[in-house]
Amino acid sequence: MRYLFIPSKAEKNNATAGEVAEPDPWVLRTPGLQDGYAIHQLIAACPPLDLNSVYVYLLLCEHFSGTCVVAAREHDVDGFISAYRLPEKPNTLFVWQVAVHERARGSGLGQRMLQYLLEHVADVQFIETTVSPDNQASRRMFESLAQDHAVSLQESEFFEQSAFGEQDHPSEPLLRMGPFVRITA
Ligand SMILES: CC(C)(COP(=O)(O)OP(=O)(O)OC[C@H]1O[C@@H](n2cnc3c(N)ncnc32)[C@H](O)[C@@H]1OP(=O)(O)O)[C@@H](O)C(=O)NCCC(=O)NCCS
Repeated sequence: MRYLFIPSKAEKNNATAGEVAEPDPWVLRTPGLQDGYAIHQLIAACPPLDLNSVYVYLLLCEHFSGTCVVAAREHDVDGFISAYRLPEKPNTLFVWQVAVHERARGSGLGQRMLQYLLEHVADVQFIETTVSPDNQASRRMFESLAQDHAVSLQESEFFEQSAFGEQDHPSEPLLRMGPFVRITA
């Protein structure tokens, strides 16, 4: 079983031009402990993401690797998504942080990693995430995923600015996309 195949941005562009797509240079895979520190460095290089401790990224690599993904190019980690199933709604994958290094942006890598999770995490029907109102790149990435799969995207209030106390943090509305449809391979 797999999700409906969505072509990469390079494949879409080249298909329009009637050409054969160059393969993307990144290998997508589940993260391991060896990636924890590199992921921490990637997040540090990707504002406005909150930088968590190295320990948090090691935990994600050890306990949640099955619902996370890294995009590696030779020895560099250029992309990472942390995600987990909602304990009370296991058919819903909560996407926590999405990071694509500046040098790798604009090639559809963020989209490809989301698609990877849809294909590799069993029985996911919905994706939830929070996106601050002014993060256009992130918003567009999730809107594009919903459009490509022809699923609805609903927005609702979630973490209000006041929930962050004295931290200068924008509100984080919730985006919920789905239901994603599985097709038999
Ligand atoms: C958000 C982010 C992950 C996007 O990664 P990316 O690999 O460049 O995104 P993609 O190439 O997959 O683009 C997906 C869509 O978003 C659009 N997009 C990407 N960057 C954009 C920008 N800066 N402004 C507007 N739209 C943008 C793309 O055009 C594409 O739309 P399309 O499918 O209609 O062509 C990346 O910019 C990033 O790491 N930013 C810093 C951290 C962050 O904000 N993370 C998200 C919050 S959790």
